[in-house]
Amino acid sequence: MSKIKACIFDLDGVIVDTAVYHYKAWKRLANSLGFDFTEEQNEKLKGVSRVKSLELILQWGGITKTDTEKEALATEKNTWYVDMINQMKPNEILPGAREFVQSCRDAGIKTALGSASKNSGMILDKIGMTAMFDAIIDGNKVSKAKPDPEVFLKGAGELHVAPKDCVVFEDAIAGVEAAINGGMKVVGIGSPQVLGEADLVVSGLSEMSLEKLKPL
Ligand code: BG6
Ligand code: MG
Repeated sequence: MSKIKACIFDLDGVIVDTAVYHYKAWKRLANSLGFDFTEEQNEKLKGVSRVKSLELILQWGGITKTDTEKEALATEKNTWYVDMINQMKPNEILPGAREFVQSCRDAGIKTALGSASKNSGMILDKIGMTAMFDAIIDGNKVSKAKPDPEVFLKGAGELHVAPKDCVVFEDAIAGVEAAINGGMKVVGIGSPQVLGEADLVVSGLSEMSLEKLKPL
């Protein structure tokens, strides 16, 4: 059996596809300010914190705002985003995600969530996966954004597992780097062209198995 003792999962893009909701809400905000941005630019927002995402979008629109104004805009976007995720159902869990997390647990491997999102708790609740994680570290518990390893190190700490015995599952470059910076193994979820730094890249958790953890 693999020596991996814990699996730490990112949420957006790994367990659920919330990127589309983030995109809709950010697009609505940009449009309200009189500009637009592309889906390609949206790719750059994956794994990036709410405040940092807003700063990038304002930069693309060539708009300057004070910190107070930024706070109000981020809150507005979040209200729209929450309205959408409030409707989420368990059928929005990405293929194979629930099954793979369960197979880890059945094999005695601890599981944690490591996400930048401050809405993680609500999403897990909506999709009925809260009880499948031994630790939940989200945007409310960290002060340093990925690629800083804080979110994953806190997860390993709560699980009482050494970082070298953890594997992180991530769809964002910043997240893959965060895992590496934390001294953990990392499985990229997406394309090898983008996530080449990861120890292994699969297209989704439906492609994962405990067998594939063994060489890590
Ligand atoms: C990450 C997403 O998981 O969470 C980002 O990939 C998002 O797109 C970030 O900006 C913060 O999420 P939230 O829900 O706290 O605004
Ligand atoms: Mg992600």
